[in-house]
This record gives sequence, C-alpha cells and structure tokens, in this order.
Amino acid sequence: SEEQKLERVRQQVRSFPDFPSPGINFRDITPLLKDPSAFCTAMDLMEAHVRKCFPRVDVIAGLDSRGFLFGPVLAQRLGIGFVLIRKKGKLPGPTESVSYSLEYGKAELEIQTDAVDAGQKVLIIDDLLATGGTLWAACQLMKKKGAEILECLVLIELTSLRGTEKLKSVPIYSLLQYD
Ligand code: PRP
Ligand code: ADE
Repeated sequence: SEEQKLERVRQQVRSFPDFPSPGINFRDITPLLKDPSAFCTAMDLMEAHVRKCFPRVDVIAGLDSRGFLFGPVLAQRLGIGFVLIRKKGKLPGPTESVSYSLEYGKAELEIQTDAVDAGQKVLIIDDLLATGGTLWAACQLMKKKGAEILECLVLIELTSLRGTEKLKSVPIYSLLQYD
C-alpha cells in the first residue's frame, strides 16, 4: 500500500540533532540514497503523484544541490527535461538571479536565461522544505521567466517551520512530514 511505501522511505531518513549548528535537527537522506529499493520506492511515489495530478509537465527544475539527486531521476521517468537552479556564480552564460534572505544573511539563486520558456509548465523539486526561503526564491526565478509553476515537490517537509505559508499561492507536495 501507499502507507507501507511511505514507511519504507521514512525508515531510510535519519536524524542528527544539533547539526550543522545547535538546535537544528538535521534530516539526513543519505541512507535512502544508499538503499536502491527504498530510493526506487520514493521515486515511484513521486512519479505516481505527478502522473495523477498533472496531465502535462514540460520541465523539472531542481535546486542546488540536493534537488539534483531527485530531479533528474523523476524527469527521466516522465520523459521530460531537467534544468538547474544553482547558487550564484556556478552557471555560465546569460543568467537571471534572485536574492533571498536566510536565517542569517542573504544568498542568491541563478538560472540560465534559456533554461525555461515563458508559458512552460514547470515542477520545482528539492529534497526538503524548511523555512521555504529557497523554494520561494526558485519560484521568483520561474515567475521572472514567465513560466507556469505547477507545484513545488519535496521529499521532506519540516512542518513547524511553516514554509508553506511563505510560499503562499504555490502548491506544495511532500512525501514525508516532520515537526
Ligand atoms: C537545504 C535543503 C533545501 C534548503 C531548505 O539546502 O536542501 O534546499 O536547505 O531550507 P529553507 O526551506 O529554509 O530554504 P542547503 O541550503 O543546506 O544547501 P545544499 O542542498 O547545497 O546542502
Ligand atoms: N535544510 C534546512 N534545514 C534542514 C534540516 N533540518 N535537515 C536537513 N536539511 C535541511
């Protein structure tokens, strides 16, 4: 059943209290990536969700860096392309950027100008939603390009950080939720 599949995935996420700084409970997906069967189950669940909810998706946009672990696998399964949303200074050629605030200080995300076209239907993917700052910036980039954001898809949502509120009108889908 779907419940059992989700449980298999959840069993391969481990937690490290106080990493990378005191008070942060780090959700580590490396056991999931090491277990091909559980990883496949996670991708099966994501693929089934996307096929059920969206008859047409033009492109998957993944976030630097852990969005790159799931995005290309999903894009291949759907038979569509994958584009990179990267931290500033990593992409060659013409780019567009958006700066966003983190708990401390600021950061910037970039996309290549030709990565998506206006009107394309885009699914944004990352491993985890915390405060939502990262996905919010990714959405700003897509809006700048005139792309249509279908949804933000994540493996894990940290619900107590209320990232969905920051993302307002953009739908969020997560496989696993943690407080
Ligand atoms: C982590 C995670 C998300 C982001 C979520 O990435 O992979 O991308 O934080 O946090 P937010 O919702 O508060 O923005 P991180 O910035 O640590 O970079 P990494 O993927 O390169 O490790
Ligand atoms: N990115 C932001 N918060 C995180 C957490 N608690 N665990 C793993 N990645 C994160």
